[in-house]
This record gives sequence, C-alpha cells and structure tokens, in this order.
Amino acid sequence: MKRVLHVAGARPNFMKIAPVMSALRAYPQVSQTLIHTGQHYDEALSKVFFDELELPRPDEDLGVGSGSHAEQTAKVMLAFEGVCLRREPDAVVVVGDVNSTVACSLVAAKLGITLAHVEAGLRSFDWSMPEEINRVVTDRLSDLLFTTERSANENLLAEGTPAQRIHFVGNVMIDTLLAHRRRAAAGAALERFGLAARRYALVTLHRPSNVDSPQSLAPILEGLARVAAEMPVLFPAHPRTRQRLETFGLQDRLGGIRVIDPLGYLDFLALMAEAAIVLTDSGGIQEETTVLGVPCLTLRPNTERPVTLTEGTNQLVALEADAIVDAASQAARERNGVRPPERVPELWDGSAATRIAQIIAEA
Ligand code: UD1
Repeated sequence: MKRVLHVAGARPNFMKIAPVMSALRAYPQVSQTLIHTGQHYDEALSKVFFDELELPRPDEDLGVGSGSHAEQTAKVMLAFEGVCLRREPDAVVVVGDVNSTVACSLVAAKLGITLAHVEAGLRSFDWSMPEEINRVVTDRLSDLLFTTERSANENLLAEGTPAQRIHFVGNVMIDTLLAHRRRAAAGAALERFGLAARRYALVTLHRPSNVDSPQSLAPILEGLARVAAEMPVLFPAHPRTRQRLETFGLQDRLGGIRVIDPLGYLDFLALMAEAAIVLTDSGGIQEETTVLGVPCLTLRPNTERPVTLTEGTNQLVALEADAIVDAASQAARERNGVRPPERVPELWDGSAATRIAQIIAEA
C-alpha cells in the first residue's frame, strides 16, 4: 500500500486538493490521509469549502491559526513533523503557495519523503510577495512538480530543476470549477444579492501590499467607489481587509461599495460567472475568470500566471483610482457587447487531477 498524505491549510488550497484526492481513489493501492494545518480556521474560509466540495473531513487538524510568518510556518513545521513521524507516508502532496505549503515541504524533504507540488513553477519574480518565497522554496524541495502552464516549466528549467521531475498536467482548480459550475448556477446567488447578470462588478482584495497600508488601500478604494457610482460593486471582504478598513478608518471612503462577508465556493463562482467585470488581487481568480470568459482586472503590478494575460481575460491595472475607473468602464462596455470567443489555456480541461493521480500512483 502506498501512503499518500495531503496537506491543505488556507482557502485556496481546498479546491485544489479536492480533485486530486478524488482522482486518487481510483487506485486501490493508494491510501490517503488529509491534514488540515489550521492556517485558516473561520467557517467562511475553511469549513464551507469542505461541505461544498465534498472533501473528506481532515484526518487531523493541526490548529496552528494566525501569526507572523515565522510563527505560523514554525508552528506548522513542528506539528507536521510529528504527523509524518507517526504516519510514515510514502509521499506528501502540497498545493499552491501559502505558508502551510512551504512549511510542510521543508518537513517532508528533511525526512526524505517524496514531495509532490501541485501548481509548481509559477513565478511573479516579485520577492516582496511572501507567496513567491514559498513557491521557490517548495519547488526547490519537490520531487514531483505538477505545472499548470508552460511558462512554469520554463521557469523551473531555468532554475535548474531536472526535466524529468516536471509534469505539465493542467489546472486542478479548473477541474473543480468545471465540476461545480452547473451546481453553482443553480444556487440563485444573483437573485439573493439583488444583482442583474453582466451589470455588476465583483471585487476581492487581500494582498498585504494592497491592504496593509492606508497609502495603498485608499487609492484603490477611491477607484472602486467611483466604479460603484456606475454599477453595483459587491466586495466579499477577507477578514484581514476588514480589519485594515477599520484600523485605518477607511470605512467612510467605501461610497456605494457593498462590503459583505467572505462567500462560499458555489456562491462566489456563480457571482463571478455572471459579473460584468471582476477586480481582484487574488492569483486563482485570474485563472477562474479566464475559463469563465469574464474580464479580470488584476490590481497588482505583476502576475505569476502570465497565460491569463496572453490567452485569457486578465489585465494588470495600475494601483491608482483613475486607472481602475478607466479599465473598469472599458471592460464593462466590452462585456455588454459581443462576448469574445472563449480561449481556454492548454490542458485546463477538467482532467488535470486524473493526470496527477496516475503519476503519483505510479511514482
Ligand atoms: C493567506 C495566504 C495567501 C492566500 C490567502 C487566501 C500566506 C502567506 N498567505 O493569506 O497566499 O492568497 O491566504 O485567503 O500563506 N484570519 C481570520 N480567519 C482565518 C484566517 C485568517 O480572521 O480563518 C485573519 C487573521 O487576522 C490573520 C489574517 O486574516 O492574521 C491573515 O491570515 P493569514 O493566513 O496569515 O494570511 P492571508 O492573508 O489569509
């Protein structure tokens, strides 16, 4: 029996691990364990995804919670080392680029356990992003590197990763999106929020570089508030962003922006699919909007997912009010006109996890 141990810790991990676990169930010689690090613990950031994505309950929750980067990473490492020593897995599977990902990778590599990284090779080349550090370190330690786009293969090869470790398999998050798209649409999210299809903007914002100082957050809010004068703007706010809005006393700058609590997977997917435009600093949403054919204005100076620019609906927008307003009104106009033909990036076909499972099972 091959023992595979999966790690998930934060919101964007859950939709990535779900299809991999599901695809590995086809291999009777593989036993699976799911470890939740507890990096995200609020029901809205964690439990709702387990319910909606029909993920198995975690076999263990390490309960590490929030903290500084060093504190959080160290807590995950300490707890996860115990898990590996007790459970003696043959392989550890990590996804994405959060602190839980790098922490568990360090532990697995030092214990000599085969490490598989799903969503390997993405690079923003921006070392001020904590995720960039997590990505580079995780990839350097990984034995099996599963990539979502060809640029990732090129990045890994340029860093000296042996070619035989790299597997271009496609995008597991898109597997999940395609599997749930119909169910999401059936949930009547637009009616519940009183929105008309293609007549509203959907916003997410949580990157430290955007929300952790009033100098960066205020101009973005000004831009969004001006967009809200033109069309409804729905903003499910990450707890981190909510706290910053309060701390910086910026609530009175929200204008007509509708700030709500974080949404579950299905409601968010439904609202994304029918939005006129999406404005975000998330990584995954750039990919999801590409597949949905919805214009995405990424409020960042760079992206580690360049295929969403070259083949998708994504564009980078400067972090100042005028640029946001101009890009939003232009993209919304186009959205209400003829819809461009969907150009889904190579291998984003709903079968990425099937490819990954085969490689893990046979490794
Ligand atoms: C983390 C990831 C980021 C990912 C994001 C998705 C890292 C370095 N960052 O950022 O890549 O895009 O998750 O959401 O791993 N908090 C709660 N409840 C929770 C979790 C967090 O209220 O369940 C609050 C806490 O105040 C915490 C803050 O949010 O200090 C930040 O949480 P943390 O996990 O450190 O980072 P995220 O900003 O969520």
